[in-house]
Amino acid sequence: MKILVTGASGFIGSHLCEQLLQDENHNVIGLDAYIKSSTPVKARKHNLAHLLHHPRFTFIKQDLLKTNWENLLPNIDIVYHLAGIPGVRSSWGKDFKTYIKNNIEATQQLLEGCRQFPVKKFIYASTSSVYGEKTGQVNEAATTEPLSPYGVSKLTGEQLCKVYAHNDNVPVVILRFFTVYGPRQRPDMAFHRFINHIMQNKPITIYGDGNQTRDFTYVKDCVTAIAAAATAEGIIGQTINIGGKERASVLECISIIEEIFGTKVERQFMGKAYGEPRHTWADISKAQSLLGYEPQTDLRQGLRAEIIDICNNPSL
Ligand code: UGA
Repeated sequence: MKILVTGASGFIGSHLCEQLLQDENHNVIGLDAYIKSSTPVKARKHNLAHLLHHPRFTFIKQDLLKTNWENLLPNIDIVYHLAGIPGVRSSWGKDFKTYIKNNIEATQQLLEGCRQFPVKKFIYASTSSVYGEKTGQVNEAATTEPLSPYGVSKLTGEQLCKVYAHNDNVPVVILRFFTVYGPRQRPDMAFHRFINHIMQNKPITIYGDGNQTRDFTYVKDCVTAIAAAATAEGIIGQTINIGGKERASVLECISIIEEIFGTKVERQFMGKAYGEPRHTWADISKAQSLLGYEPQTDLRQGLRAEIIDICNNPSL
């Protein structure tokens, strides 16, 4: 199959390209505009560098809002739409403009393209942030009540997918990721920040009391599920949670990182971050039945891999 991955240089996008290329039947076109975001361009170029010479991989530097679809979409079987501006805490104030442009307008333009040049599947990368505050395990039928402008932008993207599915039969699948971590994690995310600060012997900042929990999902597990969506049957029109193997609180994760480093770190408690749910917890039964998904990596293994990656690339 010929597969387009938007946001190919990003944390999850670059792992997804790698995962898809493991299947000899796939040719992958990775598209990215290197738009300014939390991850420096240098790090995003590094994420993709090892794939640039792969015989079944093509990279296109291209902004979705300036793309001529007839040059790109004919012959594409599957679109994975991962491009966008991520991050819950940075979506407030004037910065929301960039979320509107890159998460909402760009998604609508890509859907317009897929209306004109039909594909077999349009897989949209969404987020647990669309749910808002929930108690217990959350399944896909739960109400969507995002708490942050970021969550609103991603939920709007989902709604646009549904609009184009309804009116133009764009074959949409929505995947909701839960706090993904591992090698190449974005530098604004908790684990990357904690690891960097420990390495620099600086105190770490904890938002709120640190007892908030996340359904942390290891990136290799996440992309295994995403890649399975390419060939899975009967998933068009579905929304599917992709959660991890282990839920934990921020404080528990810090203790694991300290154990791996064999050192203690100073904690600075800050006010609670705006717009964050206290807990996230995915019901992954749909992913299990529709994608054959079973997360494999526990926090200790996953954090160890992320620490090794950061130690090996200190200049990124
Ligand atoms: C992450 C991603 O950043 C979003 O792009 C994604 O869509 C979202 O997951 C999701 O699953 O919906 P978040 O859960 O905030 O968002 O991920 P982290 O940055 O890893 O934060 C995890 C927890 O650590 C949060 O409660 C946060 O407040 C806390 N944290 C973060 C700190 O206590 N200190 C820090 O320095 C950073």
